[in-house]
Amino acid sequence: MKAIILSGGKGTRLRPLTYTGAKQLVPVANKPILWYGIESIVAAGVTDIGIIISPETGEEVKTKTGNGDRFGANITYILQDKPAGLAHAVKVARPFLGDSPFVMYLGDNLIQNELGGFLTQFKESQIDALIMLRPVPNPSAFGVAQIDDQGRVIHLVEKPKVPPSNLALVGIYFFAPTIHDAIDRIQPSPRGELEITDAIQNLINHQQQVEARQIEGWWLDTGKKDDLLEANQIVLDTCLQSSVLGEVDAKSQISGRVQIGARSKLINCTVRGPVVIGEDCHLENCFIGPYSSVDHQVTLIEADLEHSVILRGASIIGIQQRIVDSVIGQRAQLKVAPKRPKALRFMIGDDSQIELA
Ligand code: G1P
Repeated sequence: MKAIILSGGKGTRLRPLTYTGAKQLVPVANKPILWYGIESIVAAGVTDIGIIISPETGEEVKTKTGNGDRFGANITYILQDKPAGLAHAVKVARPFLGDSPFVMYLGDNLIQNELGGFLTQFKESQIDALIMLRPVPNPSAFGVAQIDDQGRVIHLVEKPKVPPSNLALVGIYFFAPTIHDAIDRIQPSPRGELEITDAIQNLINHQQQVEARQIEGWWLDTGKKDDLLEANQIVLDTCLQSSVLGEVDAKSQISGRVQIGARSKLINCTVRGPVVIGEDCHLENCFIGPYSSVDHQVTLIEADLEHSVILRGASIIGIQQRIVDSVIGQRAQLKVAPKRPKALRFMIGDDSQIELA
């Protein structure tokens, strides 16, 4: 059994963060989203992993993630030279996959369930594909499945205007090598991509065995700001363990589950968990409320925040109002003069959003 993780794409819905980086490397609770997928695949016992990368962000993914040693895996990087669809990515990965069955994991998806159980069912049942479904309120944004009374998949359609059900295809699939023939039989969709959804439908059309399981736990597709904040909240809620490696002075108060990385300094701060603060941060006279993730090398002085994600190297100084539901990009600087400011001075990147609420 092998695995491929798709880590290409342009991440348009997460701009401006994704102008300078891969969407799969945006952190959730200070860990790149992509790494959760790798860890979950390794936990299911699959260690031969191919990561599909794009020319734009591939180097960054490679440099950050490495050869797999840190995960107990063997990672091969496979370049997809154009974003021609998920099934196209499988085509590109074919030399790596050979005749092996495989799990395909979209690098911006996170699920609560462990993969091991699904993997065992897939192996034992000798089917051609096992897909996962979850009811969603907005099925038109996903691949959608129609199933019969016995739970068999009848029909799959990618991002339908009129969805045949509310069951979305989760971005994690198990395939036998027969999927390659199905991919060879399909044509690009109206949006010009070879869709994996069409390839699975093609298996069904050829009377091959496709089964579906509905997942019960949470599923997050972290493509947008609110999804990212929700993923951050859920992961902090369910996975964070307390540990304080940095320095916390006597005037600071820490309550709830809080992680503070090495060499970080907290001076006169109140932190209410769940909160994760990375390494080499400087926090002074701050309130950090629940569901906040502060990445490495961040400076926060006279700042008050809650339910927010602050990326590496950012600084926030002298903001009196509470910052909520916010994502602050790498190295961004927010600063207010000590006296009540008479003017606001900005240098804001394309697609940024500022709301003085
Ligand atoms: C892709 C798939 C879609 C699936 C979704 C899950 O869509 O094409 O069928 O439901 O992932 O995240 P995309 O996120 O590329 O728009």
